[in-house]
Amino acid sequence: MPNFPTETELSARLWYQKVDASYLAFLCDLHSDPDVMHFINGGTSSPIETMRVQLLEWLNTQQKWEPRLGCFVVHSRENGVALGWVTLKPDRFFPGEVEIGYRFHKRFWGQGVATEAAGTMIARARRLKIERVIAHTLERNVRSQNVMSKLGMTLEEQFVYPQWVCEQWDETERRGVKYSLLM
Ligand SMILES: CC(C)(COP(=O)(O)OP(=O)(O)OC[C@H]1O[C@@H](n2cnc3c(N)ncnc32)[C@H](O)[C@@H]1OP(=O)(O)O)[C@@H](O)C(=O)NCCC(=O)NCCS
Repeated sequence: MPNFPTETELSARLWYQKVDASYLAFLCDLHSDPDVMHFINGGTSSPIETMRVQLLEWLNTQQKWEPRLGCFVVHSRENGVALGWVTLKPDRFFPGEVEIGYRFHKRFWGQGVATEAAGTMIARARRLKIERVIAHTLERNVRSQNVMSKLGMTLEEQFVYPQWVCEQWDETERRGVKYSLLM
């Protein structure tokens, strides 16, 4: 099936393309890096075929999101390389909330790309009249919280992620923080 051009966004150093099945290999690679997945699921990854099936399900789910929302693959404007992804999506843990999420290859950490990309999602939300966004992460994921703070989001509540997020983590390890921003 041909891949038709999908929606894009632009910012100073980055361009964004709504994710589709043509990114499957990129996503499998990103989601199988233990460092990238450390604070997501303890750094484990499924066998490649299982991961492909799960990712295709995830892509299908996105078809049901309202069009203002989406997962965008983030590329360098300089050389076109895909660096990671950023999302504006219905939250899984806080029903009714719109969540900003991000995940980047480790070699692109420490350059401000996550903050630039998440800032672009906030600008998109504002432009498309979404009134409030949230972001959440483990208390231990300081890098992710730094991004939230730099975006002007403020700490709203502390909570504990459910056990299914990672069977090996105890309750202390599952402590989370929820940040929010009113537009
Ligand atoms: C969370 C994550 C996206 C944060 O990445 P990050 O690289 O720390 O965040 P940024 O890209 O915004 O970079 C910020 C850093 O770049 C530095 N930086 C360098 N050049 C910069 C520039 N031109 N502009 C802004 N910051 C710049 C900042 O000083 C900051 O450095 P510091 O970490 O030493 O304070 C990344 O760690 C990741 O993908 N982790 C795996 C997935 C994950 O945990 N996602 C969140 C789950 S909720």
